[in-house]
Amino acid sequence: MWVGCSPTPLRRSRITAALQRLRLAGRRVTDARCRIRPVQPADLPALVAIERIAFTDPWSRGDFDDCLKAGMHVLVAEDGGIVGYVVGRALLDQGEILNLGVTLPARRRGIGAALVRRLLAVFSTAGVREAFLEVRESNFAAQRLYQSFGFHDVGRRNRY
Ligand SMILES: CC(C)(COP(=O)(O)OP(=O)(O)OC[C@H]1O[C@@H](n2cnc3c(N)ncnc32)[C@H](O)[C@@H]1OP(=O)(O)O)[C@@H](O)C(=O)NCCC(=O)NCCS
Repeated sequence: MWVGCSPTPLRRSRITAALQRLRLAGRRVTDARCRIRPVQPADLPALVAIERIAFTDPWSRGDFDDCLKAGMHVLVAEDGGIVGYVVGRALLDQGEILNLGVTLPARRRGIGAALVRRLLAVFSTAGVREAFLEVRESNFAAQRLYQSFGFHDVGRRNRY
């Protein structure tokens, strides 16, 4: 079973409020010193490697290739090497976060949050007004992260 998260209206005020909260916390922005940039084909093996440690049903190289061919937004976090990635797609005024992963040693340094924040900014620039994502009901870490951006439950799917 899984939880469907959001929709979150991407009003500028909401995003701004989230950023202020992160700064006030005093850790997220300063600790996540990684550089976030669009993916390059040479990065894909690193993304597949993170998938394999992060998920029991990892995306393949072909899955990432398909995302790029479809013009989806794939951003990577770089700190020496690739330490995380986020995948999303925007269609008219709706956005969807499709994937997010951070290497084990780089976790709890604000990198996942930095990737989501940047993707939401890209969505906002593209005219997205609300965003959706799906997350396993058992994935407490990801739910906490998404909730910190204002995502909330809108439904559940059986046998996710
Ligand atoms: C979920 C994931 C991307 C989080 O990445 P991260 O870089 O460690 O996250 P951040 O450091 O930015 O954490 C941001 C907030 O998320 C929440 N969070 C993250 N990891 C958590 C954990 N293990 N337990 C509880 N809360 C957690 C916290 O609220 C955290 O803020 P805090 O550190 O100030 O308490 C990472 O754990 C991961 O790759 N997991 C496996 C893949 C996955 O589940 N992807 C999501 C699919 S929907």
